[in-house]
Amino acid sequence: MPRTYLMCPPAYFTVKYAINPWMDTTSPVDADLAGKQWERLRETLVELGHRVHVLTPQAGLPDMVYAANGAFSVDGTVYGARFRYPQRAAEAAAHQAFYAIQDEPGWRFVAPTEINEGEGDFTYVPGPGLILAGYGFRTEPTAHAEAQEVLGRPVISLRLVDPRFYHLDMALAPLDDTTIAYYPAAFSASSQAVLRQLFPDAVLASEPDALAFGLNLVSDGRNVVLSSEATALADRLAAAGYLPRLVELTELKKGGGSVKCCVAELRS
Ligand code: ARG
Repeated sequence: MPRTYLMCPPAYFTVKYAINPWMDTTSPVDADLAGKQWERLRETLVELGHRVHVLTPQAGLPDMVYAANGAFSVDGTVYGARFRYPQRAAEAAAHQAFYAIQDEPGWRFVAPTEINEGEGDFTYVPGPGLILAGYGFRTEPTAHAEAQEVLGRPVISLRLVDPRFYHLDMALAPLDDTTIAYYPAAFSASSQAVLRQLFPDAVLASEPDALAFGLNLVSDGRNVVLSSEATALADRLAAAGYLPRLVELTELKKGGGSVKCCVAELRS
């Protein structure tokens, strides 16, 4: 099934503040290379048959390239983001404006009250119809309840405990309608028990896989687009029957993100 995505080019991408452990303001970013790597990611999704909308980047919002953080949608309802840090706050309005001008398929946008970073901390598993939601670093647990009210799907709250995996999408990703991949140690012991109960057949990633940003992937149920550094995870996914599509995103890693961070899925 073709998917619909939203991406934002890294036209103003830099690392000029540090709001996660991966960001080092003293290490330079190759802007030209960042642009090429981003374009290659966009082309990969298009070549796989998916539709990619492009959000207009804004000067002064260097993290806008991480489009996944701007909202979270299920069944045409869009739950807007409210960023934790002031440096990113203005991104939320840019995403809201995007949905306002899309008249097809008619998005219903709901502005949030609670702090949440969109698909950074929310994901959807269509088979059981479950929303999985992270908290501990960015999104407030109160936003999980708000998302459940807005979207009308059960929300499973998962506590993240390792600051290197500050968003859910650094540590967990759906692979198809019923299967997920995750790195257990990124979660509290109780949240690990919840994941084992719900997803006994999950693909478990190793610490090196997770540190290579391997779980920050985008899957269409068959093709799995992931960082070229995550070779061990790519092999494991291939053995499980998926088709890994490796992309290089070394520059965007300097901001603390990879494939998934750059790609919001629009679920209509
Ligand atoms: N520099 C960004 C931040 O710390 C990176 C966001 C990564 N996005 C993601 N979906 N995990 O907010």
